[in-house]
Amino acid sequence: MTTISRRRFLVSTGAASLLVSACGAGGGREALLPTDPLVGARETRLAGADAKVIRKSMTAGPVDLDLAGRVTPTWGFDGDAIRANVGDILEVELRNELPEETTIHWHGIAIRNDMDGVHDLTQSAVAAGERFTYRFLVPDPGTHFFHPHTGLQLDRALYAPLVIDDRDDPGQYDAEHVLVLDDWLEGTPEEAFARLGAGMEGMDGMEGMDGMEGMDGMEGMDGMEGMASSDLLGGHASDVSYQMHLINFRPIEDRPTFDVPAGGRVRLRLINAASDTAYRFAVGGHRLTVTHADGFPVEPVEVDAVLLGMGERFDVIVTASAGAHPIVAIAEGTDQVAGAVLRAGPGDPPSPAARPAELNGQVLTYGDLRPTEAVRLASGQPDTSLTLDLTGNEADYMWGINGKPMSDLDPFDIEEGQTVRLTFRNRSTMWHPMHLHGHTFALEETGARKDTVIVRPDESVSVMFAADNPGQWMVHCHNTYHLEAGMAGVISYVR
Ligand code: C2O
Ligand code: CU
Repeated sequence: MTTISRRRFLVSTGAASLLVSACGAGGGREALLPTDPLVGARETRLAGADAKVIRKSMTAGPVDLDLAGRVTPTWGFDGDAIRANVGDILEVELRNELPEETTIHWHGIAIRNDMDGVHDLTQSAVAAGERFTYRFLVPDPGTHFFHPHTGLQLDRALYAPLVIDDRDDPGQYDAEHVLVLDDWLEGTPEEAFARLGAGMEGMDGMEGMDGMEGMDGMEGMDGMEGMASSDLLGGHASDVSYQMHLINFRPIEDRPTFDVPAGGRVRLRLINAASDTAYRFAVGGHRLTVTHADGFPVEPVEVDAVLLGMGERFDVIVTASAGAHPIVAIAEGTDQVAGAVLRAGPGDPPSPAARPAELNGQVLTYGDLRPTEAVRLASGQPDTSLTLDLTGNEADYMWGINGKPMSDLDPFDIEEGQTVRLTFRNRSTMWHPMHLHGHTFALEETGARKDTVIVRPDESVSVMFAADNPGQWMVHCHNTYHLEAGMAGVISYVR
């Protein structure tokens, strides 16, 4: 299989050539690069005189994961969650002990462009054995996470939460837990990607095979995961066959228990760090009050369950009734789950087989989300509108934007100070969680602030953002395999 290396080479080459061709495309307008003095200017404007510096080191390297007693080698970070306050300067030294290059991307926070961690676009990749220090001001509170932006590394265990607190907002809750959801792959993501390239795991790939020739491909699949289908996602739900699903790196057989006070208000910060799986999340016997979407506050809204695409976060409050209750995240379109226990005092633990009725109750929709006044974007007409057609299919596994993989796609030019309208039109056969770096957009439908939005087949979703953070920013599908196949573009500030 030469597919992977060829595609990776193309992506790298495409982005790298963007760096050198600052005055290239766009009719002589100059791209505002990560090295531009304007990139640091915003941070200087936001910085308080006495900003606290939080120093960490984070080693990316081989780690052993204990999956319900089975020790499994993978790649991960040595540190846990990073937590800071709004206005702090975060200084993280990445030590790369992986056998290949990497970077760290700080997903969801609008930091300075040269610290955004996209290799060959905002920085050079950090080579094996090398170090790189990220240093940036954290401008907004919220539930975020960080992960590499290199190849398929995210589908190993290379991720951790990034939680930014607001000193002025102590929070109306008695306990708090961070829950990171992930799909767990046996074997390497590179092998999984190679199988996708051959059309073996995708449903359409199977349909494309005729007669007995299909048999080999079918035998190669683990169960029915490749056929996963979901009404909530408008059809085919996922491409890769996963063996298990994790909450905070633990499978259902060894699910974590979260101890909380009975009757207390419990804030759960939910993060979907999976590569190819959306989760429907519920807590047995409890309603969820959604308070934040992708880190930004919304008017509290009560539902039974939330659906999280890859890269999405929701903060929810539950008022814990006495006893032990099942927390279940079902891998959308399958019957596989990740789970945990919410324990408020004594009581028998719920069966790991429990499937709370709430999972099939009222599921949060984007239409339910309303921004709080404090985070509402000033309304007004957009100064520029960009349309991104999401294109491709499972059969040949060539995903792209406007019919092209990132390596062939011209950057989308914008200017600082503009209000930008971005429309994602899904012309492909599958849903995509579309993510924008460096900005938190507003859903046109409701004004709710987000940075990742699910776009179903045949659906069109528009978002608006204020172009206030100069640089070169990725916009891409947060399905790790779709991204690797090319479903990405660059929003380029120009002058
Ligand atoms: Cu989690 Cu390019 O992002
Ligand atoms: Cu996608």
